[in-house]
Amino acid sequence: MKGAPALQAAQQLIRELSAAAPADDYDPARVASVLAGLEALAQSPEGSPPSSDAALQEVADALFGIAALDFSKRPQLRGDGSVLDAVIGCVNMLSEELAAYHLQRNAIEQELERRVESRTLELSMANAQLRHEIAERIRTEKALLESEAQLSQASKMEAMGKLSGGIAHDFNNLLSVIISYTVSLLEELPTPDPMREDLEQIRRAGMRASELTRQLLAFSRRQVMELKAVNLNELITNTTGLLHRLIGEDIELKLELEPQLGLVRVDPGQFVQVIMNLAVNSRDAMPQGGTLTLCTANVGPDGARPSRLESSAGPCVRLCTRDTGVGMDAATMARIFEPFFTTKGPGAGTGLGLSTVFGIVKQSSGTVHVQSEPGKGASFEIDLPRYQGTAQTEDPNSLSRERLGGTETILLTEDDDQVRHLAERILRNKGYEVLVAARPGEALELFRQYASSISLLVTDVVMPQMSGRVLAEQLRASCPGLKVLYMSGYTEDISLRHGVVESLVDFMAKPITPDVLLRRVREILDS
Ligand SMILES: Nc1ncnc2c1ncn2[C@@H]1O[C@H](COP(=O)(O)OP(=O)(O)OP(=O)(O)O)[C@@H](O)[C@H]1O
Ligand SMILES: [Mg+2]
Repeated sequence: MKGAPALQAAQQLIRELSAAAPADDYDPARVASVLAGLEALAQSPEGSPPSSDAALQEVADALFGIAALDFSKRPQLRGDGSVLDAVIGCVNMLSEELAAYHLQRNAIEQELERRVESRTLELSMANAQLRHEIAERIRTEKALLESEAQLSQASKMEAMGKLSGGIAHDFNNLLSVIISYTVSLLEELPTPDPMREDLEQIRRAGMRASELTRQLLAFSRRQVMELKAVNLNELITNTTGLLHRLIGEDIELKLELEPQLGLVRVDPGQFVQVIMNLAVNSRDAMPQGGTLTLCTANVGPDGARPSRLESSAGPCVRLCTRDTGVGMDAATMARIFEPFFTTKGPGAGTGLGLSTVFGIVKQSSGTVHVQSEPGKGASFEIDLPRYQGTAQTEDPNSLSRERLGGTETILLTEDDDQVRHLAERILRNKGYEVLVAARPGEALELFRQYASSISLLVTDVVMPQMSGRVLAEQLRASCPGLKVLYMSGYTEDISLRHGVVESLVDFMAKPITPDVLLRRVREILDS
C-alpha cells in the first residue's frame, strides 16, 4: 500500500495536523495509535489498497478518529470543517482506488480462471489421450502375446499333425491288409470252425486300430472329406436320438436352433462325430447330471454376433455346445486339442476326442473356440464359413450286397505289393477280370494290349515314376471315356501334390476294405 496515494494522503494529513497543533491540544497517544494503524495498513504484505470493505472501514475509522481529535489551538482546522472535508476526501479517494483495484483484480482473476480452465481442459485432454494410448498399448501387447501363444500353439499342432498323419498313412496300408485278409479268411472258413473266434478278434482289433488311425488322420487334416451342403440343424435333430442314449437320463439336452440357419459345406459324417465327441466330453464333465445345450446361429457380417473366423469377411454359421459341468482351468484348456491329452484315468479316455474335432473343423475351414472356468461349465463354439448354394439330399446307398460283383475287366495299378494283392483278390473273388500292374509303366503297356476290353482303371495316387492322376490322363488321351477310381490314404495326395480333385466320386480312402472297394467299383462302372 506504500504506493497507494489515498493512504499516503491520510498519513500526510495527520502528520500535518499534529505538527501544527500544540501537544496538549490533543491526545498524542491517540494520534500515535491512529498513525500506527495507517502504517500497519501501508505495510500490508501485498502493498495494495485494503482489499475488503472491512479493511476500508478500518482506514476510514482511523481517519475519522483524526477528525474527531480536538485540535483546539487551530481554529482554522476546526471551525470551517476542513479537517473533516480532507478526511472525507481521503476516504473517497481510498474507496475509488479500492473499486478500481477490485475491478482490476476481478479482471485478473477472471483471466487467471480462464487460463486455469483452459489449461485444465488441455491437461485433461492430454490425460485422456495418454490413458487411451496406454490402454491401446496394453491391448496391443496383450494381442501380441495372444497371437504369439496362438502361433506357437498352431505350430505345435502343425508338427503333431504331420507326425501323426505320417504314421497314420503308413498304418492305413498295413491295416488294409490285416483287415481284408482276415475278412477273406472268415468268408472262406466253414461256419462252425474253431478258428472263427480268433479271426473275429483279429478283425475287431484291426477295426479298432483303423478307427484310431481315422481319428489321427482327422486331426492331421488329411482325412478324405465327402463335402455336402449341410443344414446343421437337421444334422443335430437327426442325431438327438443317439445323443440322448449317449448322455444318459441325468443330463437334460436342450436345443437352441436358429430357424433361418445358413448352410455349411462339410462332411456330415465328420460333423456327427464332432457333436458326439463334444457331447461325450460334456457328459463326462457332469457326473452328477446337468444340462447340455446345443445351439446354432448365423454370425458374421449379416448375423448379430461377430465371427471368429480369420477371414471374417464372409458370413458364418456357428455351432456351439454348452454344459454345466466341472469346467477346466487355464492349464488344461491350453492343451485340450493335443492328441492324447486327457485328464481321464488310464483306459477312460484316449485324448483323441477334441483333436479329432479340431482337425475336422480346421479342415472344413472353420475355427473352434473354447470358454471355461473351473466349476462353471464349458462351452465350445465352432464357426464355419456359410455356404451360399442349396442343400444336397443324401443319396441313399441303394447298391445291395449281391450287386457288388461284376464281370468287367479292371486295370489295377498299385505299387504296394500287399495292397495290390489284396485288391486283386477282392475283385477277382467277385467275378471281375483283373489286369495287375505294379508300376505305371506296366499299366501303360497292359493298356496298349487290352485297351478295348478295359472298363475301369483302379489306381493308387502316389507312385514312383508317375502319379495315378498322370497315368489316368495318359490313358484317357487314347480312350476319353475311361472310368477311374483313385485310392489313397489322405487328401493331401490328391489335392496338393497331384492336382485338385473336383469330385470325390472317383476317389476311395484307404484303408481299403472289401465292401467299400466293391461298392465304389460298382458305382463307377454303373455311372
Ligand atoms: N466339456 C468339458 N468340460 C470339462 N473338461 C473338458 C470338456 N471337454 C474336454 N475336457 C477336457 O479336455 C480333455 C481332452 O478331451 P478329449 O475329448 O480330447 O479327450 P478325452 O475325452 O479325455 O478322451 P477321448 O475323447 O479320446 O475318449 C479331457 O480329458 C478333459 O480334461
Ligand atoms: Mg473326449
